[in-house]
Parts: sequence; structure tokens; C-alpha cells
Amino acid sequence: MADSIRQRLLQMLEEHTDTYVSGQMISESLNVSRTAIWKHVAELRKNGYEVEAIQKKGYRIVTRPNSLSKEEISLKLDTTFIGSEIHAYPSVETTQFIAHNLAHEGIQDGAIVVADEQTAGKGRLGRSWHSPKGSGIWTSIILRPKLPPQRAPQFTLIAAVSVVQAIRKQTGLEAEIKWPNDILINGKKIVGILTELQAEADQIKSVIIGMGINVNAAKEDFPSDLTTATSLKIESGEDVNRAALLASILNELEVLYTEYMENGFRMIKLLWESYAISLGRKIKARTLNGVIEGLAKGITEEGVLLLESDDGEVHHIYSADIEIC
Ligand code: BTN
Repeated sequence: MADSIRQRLLQMLEEHTDTYVSGQMISESLNVSRTAIWKHVAELRKNGYEVEAIQKKGYRIVTRPNSLSKEEISLKLDTTFIGSEIHAYPSVETTQFIAHNLAHEGIQDGAIVVADEQTAGKGRLGRSWHSPKGSGIWTSIILRPKLPPQRAPQFTLIAAVSVVQAIRKQTGLEAEIKWPNDILINGKKIVGILTELQAEADQIKSVIIGMGINVNAAKEDFPSDLTTATSLKIESGEDVNRAALLASILNELEVLYTEYMENGFRMIKLLWESYAISLGRKIKARTLNGVIEGLAKGITEEGVLLLESDDGEVHHIYSADIEIC
């Protein structure tokens, strides 16, 4: 209850950042006392908001924290189900683990878990994922499509397209996709996506899409051996609002997921190909069974990479690390 009043108070203040909102107006719209408003404002200040309060004029937000709170994310959300339930934490081992548990308990389609820090972030292929406090977006999105498990890899591609579109809209940076799930800017990695599955033999129970986004990290925040990574701030020179970016990703994801469930993979495939850097280029794919070199021809309906080696053979690559030659 208190949470939803605070949320609505924030919304009111957010809609009038260039003027003061009077205590009376807030009190009438939210149906709460002046004292209650004062307490909520005090709570907002504790959470990093700078709120001006001037007698006879009212309240005004001067600055807001760059935080991943439920309130901040919800402010910019324009969805009907993705992000309608947000579990936000200051620090967790990995959001994937929490999301898996929530999915087991039967949480609703579109719920998300987000953390300010991960102490044991998981990457693909058993690697770890560097997830320092306060500078990135570490999130796991739970989707529950009624589809066979073979369709699950397509969700990585849907997620990649939504992140690219949101980054382009929010920052103007030319984010691109490197198959299957890396998002790069100027050839360096900004985002990693880890898609995990809970399924029965013939039906997906949950797809857990983990996204790690390097947002405001400075060069020196990355471990010295991580030379292939960068952040949005390094690339744009500006601080990026994490909650606004996450909300934008969720907005894009809902549109694409709905399109996919209604009309199939065709549109997603076209969009994915338009953002892919590796297609039509010579690449080296390091698979579990060895290295294959050749021309990246495209992806199949299932999101499998087609690689034509020099002898003309077309290989289906299901999982690999890709290097562009
Ligand atoms: C990759 O190896 O490229 C995938 C990295 C995925 C990292 C994200 S961060 C949020 C979620 N929680 C995790 O522990 N991993 C994923």
C-alpha cells in the first residue's frame, strides 16, 4: 500500500519536474494526509532523490538516483505484463538462481528479477560474469510461452533484438549483434545474454532470459584481463539512466514477444539479421568439437548459425564462440 502511494507520488512529481506540486493537490489525488506525504518524501530522500519542499508552493524533484528500484523502473514502463512484477535486490549471488526458484513456484509470465550487484554472476559456457555494484543492469526475465522446448533458442534472439533497439533509442549508439547473443559497440562487448530453460519433454515451463549490461562502468572498473568489454558510458561519454534503459528493453521485448507469439519468428529473424555484424563475413567458430572457419551465411528458423567452409560444406553451428576474421 505504502509502496503504491510512493509510486503514485513519484509519478505526479515526475510529470511536473518544471514546477511545484502543492501538498493539497497531492493529498487530494492520493487521498492521504499532509503528514503522510511528508513521510513519503522523507523516504524518497533516503533513497537518493533530491526533493525540494517550499512552503505555500509544494514539492519538486530536483534530481533522482540512478537506481534500479522497482519505482524507477515502473515509471518508464509501458507494458501490460512484462515487468508487471519486479523483484529488485541490492545484492545477490545471481539473479538467474532467484528467477529459477520463482519460476518453480509458478510466478507469472513476464516477472523480472533485477540486482544492483551480483557476487557470483553466471556467463555462458560455465564462465563467470563480472557484475559490480551500481554500474550495470543484471536482470533475469521469466517468460512462460506455451511452446515446445525446441523453440527456446529463438528467445535469445528476441532478447538480443530488444536490447539493441532499446540501446539505440536511449543512447543513439550503434549496438550490433554477434551471434548468438553478444551485443557489441565498436567491436567491444556491452551485453551478454544467457537463456536457460525449465521444460517438460514437449512443453516449455519457463524461459529465463538473463541479461548483463555494462552501463556506467569506467575503464578501470573492468578486470585488466577483460579487454574485450566496454560500457555505454565509455562509448557515449555520458551517464546512462539504468532504470530508463531497462524499462525500454522490457517495452521492446513485450512488443517483439507478442509479435512472435502471434505471427511466428519471421519478423524477429529479419530484424536480428539487420543488426547482425557477423553475417556475410569470414568468421572462426570455436565449437566443443573444434574450430571451423568460413563464411557466415545466415541463421535458420531455429536461430542456428549457418557457416559455409571453403570446401562449400554448410555447417550448422548450435553453440560456439565466434571470432570475426
Ligand atoms: C554471457 O556469457 O555472455 C552471458 C552473460 C549473462 C549475464 C547475466 S547478468 C544477469 C543474469 N544473472 C547471471 O548470473 N547471469 C545473467
